[in-house]
Amino acid sequence: MDKSKITPKKLLQFKKDNRKFAALTAYDSLFSSILNEAEIEVILVGDSLGMIVQGRSNTLHVTVDDVVYHTKCVSRMNKNALLVADMPFMSYQATVCDALYNAAKLIKDGNAEAVKLEGGEEIADTVSRMVRSGMPVMGHIGLTPQDVLTSGGYFVQGIDEKSAKKLINDAKALYEAGVFAMVIECVPAEVARQITTDIDVPTIGIGAGPYCDGQILVTQDMLGLFKRFKPKFVKTYSNLYEDAVTAIKKFSEEVKSGEYPGKEHSY
Ligand code: KIV
Repeated sequence: MDKSKITPKKLLQFKKDNRKFAALTAYDSLFSSILNEAEIEVILVGDSLGMIVQGRSNTLHVTVDDVVYHTKCVSRMNKNALLVADMPFMSYQATVCDALYNAAKLIKDGNAEAVKLEGGEEIADTVSRMVRSGMPVMGHIGLTPQDVLTSGGYFVQGIDEKSAKKLINDAKALYEAGVFAMVIECVPAEVARQITTDIDVPTIGIGAGPYCDGQILVTQDMLGLFKRFKPKFVKTYSNLYEDAVTAIKKFSEEVKSGEYPGKEHSY
């Protein structure tokens, strides 16, 4: 294996070495190649594709086949990043059998190198079974978007003492079940700090402050490409949506005025 290939084991070593790492989402081969060129350590094919690619208002309608398709696309241009695929809503909650079968699909058909599940203590047995079957599992606690119907929206988690304790217990349960890393979404920085100190696998924050071992964002958010809403934790590093509109308008104007195509674009 290429020495620079990121594996779950390498992420564990990063934590031991106090070395931070970056993770971003991708849903197609183009973004996969951009993230590889930028040497991002972890690529997640998130079920956020429901919102970003499919134009839905939540992640609940994403299917295992959707994630397999997008993971396959991403894998074709992925070289060094660890490729993680999200397990969509109801692909692992009902039975351990479902979880094993669907995770195997993401790995065998989608070429995922690890899978991510949302939830805490309540999914620990499932996670343990998956890990014992040879599947690297990433956890996801805090704000878990697949619970949007029961929670009634997307809110910061772990604000009071009781819910902070629950988060810490969830993190410990997942760690004991064998996750190699866990996403912590939308929780106070101090709670994420305690979890990061308590457990020996890397934490990956999204809206969880600066103390996590890694950070993840949705690529289209941080590039300023997705405009429908912008959570407080998103920092935009470019304005690609506006840039694209400007470029496309210019193309349209030049087609209409006859400026494009010029001699240099003709045979
Ligand atoms: O679906 C997703 O993109 C995610 C990340 C935002 C962590 O779960």
